[in-house]
Amino acid sequence: MAGKYVIAAATAAALVFIGNAGNAQNNPPTIRQFDPPFYVFSPDVPRDMTANTGTQVNQPYVDSLAWDAFIALNWPAPNPFTQRGVPDRQNVIGGFYQPGEGGGKTMPAGPTVWETFKDTNDIYLDPPVKPTAFDVAESVPPACRNVAAANPVAARRTLIMKTKFDDVLRSNKQADGNRLVDQNGQDVWYEVKLNRVYYDYVVQNRLYDSRNQIGKTIAFPASSNVTAAPGTIKVKAAWKVIGLPGTKQPDDPTKFYTTQALVLDRDTGKCSQQLLGLVGLHVVMKTIIFPQWLWATFEHVANAPDQTSGPQPNTTYNFYSGACANCAVNTPPTKTQPQAPTQVMRVVPIDNLAAQKNALYQAAFKTLRSDNVWQNYMLVDAQWGGKTASPSIPNQPSFLANTTLETYLQAATNPNGCINCHGAFAAGTDFDFQLTNAYPHSKTLLLDMFRVRGLASPR
Ligand code: HEC
Repeated sequence: MAGKYVIAAATAAALVFIGNAGNAQNNPPTIRQFDPPFYVFSPDVPRDMTANTGTQVNQPYVDSLAWDAFIALNWPAPNPFTQRGVPDRQNVIGGFYQPGEGGGKTMPAGPTVWETFKDTNDIYLDPPVKPTAFDVAESVPPACRNVAAANPVAARRTLIMKTKFDDVLRSNKQADGNRLVDQNGQDVWYEVKLNRVYYDYVVQNRLYDSRNQIGKTIAFPASSNVTAAPGTIKVKAAWKVIGLPGTKQPDDPTKFYTTQALVLDRDTGKCSQQLLGLVGLHVVMKTIIFPQWLWATFEHVANAPDQTSGPQPNTTYNFYSGACANCAVNTPPTKTQPQAPTQVMRVVPIDNLAAQKNALYQAAFKTLRSDNVWQNYMLVDAQWGGKTASPSIPNQPSFLANTTLETYLQAATNPNGCINCHGAFAAGTDFDFQLTNAYPHSKTLLLDMFRVRGLASPR
C-alpha cells in the first residue's frame, strides 16, 4: 500500500493517488488492483488482473479492472498536450474542484488521455504510406480547413464516422442504415483512437499497407503485471451533438463529458463545428491474462431505458421518447425519414455485479467533486474469453452490447457481442478491424461478409 491511497466504499473520501506511479512508457506502476469493493484513483492504466487464474477469473475483478482503466484513460491530459497518451499528474479525473473566485468550477476543457491517442484515419492512409509520427497533430480534412481556421480549438480533431461500420464497409453508398439519430434529429458521431503501442506495432511491421499483412501472424503486444511492457489499448467512442436551448430536447451540458470538435459529413461534404457529449465508450486492452483482449464498454446513464423494466419516471433519455410509445424499437433510420429519432431500448439489462460496481465508482467520483461529470457514466459490462477457447465461445458474459454502438446488434445471438463478432470476422488480425482499413482495400469488403452471411448488415 505504500505510496497509494486505497479507498473503501464506506470510507470514501477525496483522497487521490497522483504520486509517481511510474512513467507510462518505461517504469511500470507496481501491481495494483485490490479485492473488490476497493478502487483506486490512478492515472496509470492497470497492466493486468492481479491473479492469474486463467479462465476462472472472477467478474468483480474484471469489472474493477475495466473501471480503473476507464479512470486512467479519462484522466485529463495536459492542455495543450505535446505527447499523446500522457496524463496530467497534477490533475484528477473530472478535474479538481477549487471553490471561490477563479476556481475551477467546470470540467477542465480536456482532452482526456484517450482523446490524445492517434486517430485511426491518420494511420491508415490512401495510398498506404507511413503515417506521421505518433505525436504529430491530427490532420484536418481539406473540406474542413475553413471551419478549422475559424475554430482552432474544435479543429484539434475531426469526426467523420456516423455509422458503426465505416470506411471498410462502404463498398457502395449504402452505409447510412446503421446511423443512430438522437431526439433532436442529429446523427451520433463515432471515432476510433489507438495508443502508442498499437501505433508502433502497425508502423514497425508496416501493416498500414494491406499487402504487408498477407501471410503475417498478427499479435499485438499485451501488457502484464510482471514485465515493464505496456500493452495495446484501443478506444471507440460515440458522441451526441449537445442539444442547445431551443432545440426539441435541449441537453444539460454539465451532465456530459463534452468536447468541441469538427464533424465532417462525407455524404454532403459539409463540415461544421459542434459541441459533442460523450454517450458511449468501448475500451479494449490486451493483457497476458486476456489474450482475447478485455472488452469493456461504458455508456452515459441516460441513454435508453431497459426493455424489461421499461422507462423510469421523470427520466429524459438521450435516445428514447416516452411520447413515442408506438415507435418501432431499435430500428435503423429509413430512407423516407432519415433523421427521425431512433427509439432505443436496452435489450440485455445490466447485471447486478456491474450495477454494484457502478454505484461504487459513481459515488467515488462525487467525492472528488460533487459535480464530477463522470458520475453520469456506467459500465455496461466487460467481456473476456478463455485463453484456450476458440474465439467467441465461451465468453464471459456471453454477449455484450452498447446501446449507442451496437444499437441494432443487442440480441443475445451470434455474432452480437464483442468477442463474438471481432473473433469471427477479424480472427486473422488479432480481433482488430482497423487493419482491415489498410489500403489497398481487399475485394471482399466487410459489408459483403456481413451481407453474405445474412447477418445484421448496415442496411
Ligand atoms: C457485429 C459485429 C461487431 C460487434 C458485435 C462489436 N463490434 Fe467492435 N467493431 C466492429 C467493426 C466492423 C469495427 C470496425 C468499424 C470501422 O472501423 O468502421 C469495430 C471496431 C471496434 C473498435 C475499434 C478497434 C477495432 O478493433 O477495429 C473497438 C475498440 C471495438 N470495436 C470494440 C467493441 C466492443 C467493446 C464491443 C462489444 C461491446 C464490440 N466492439 C462489438 C464490429 C463489431
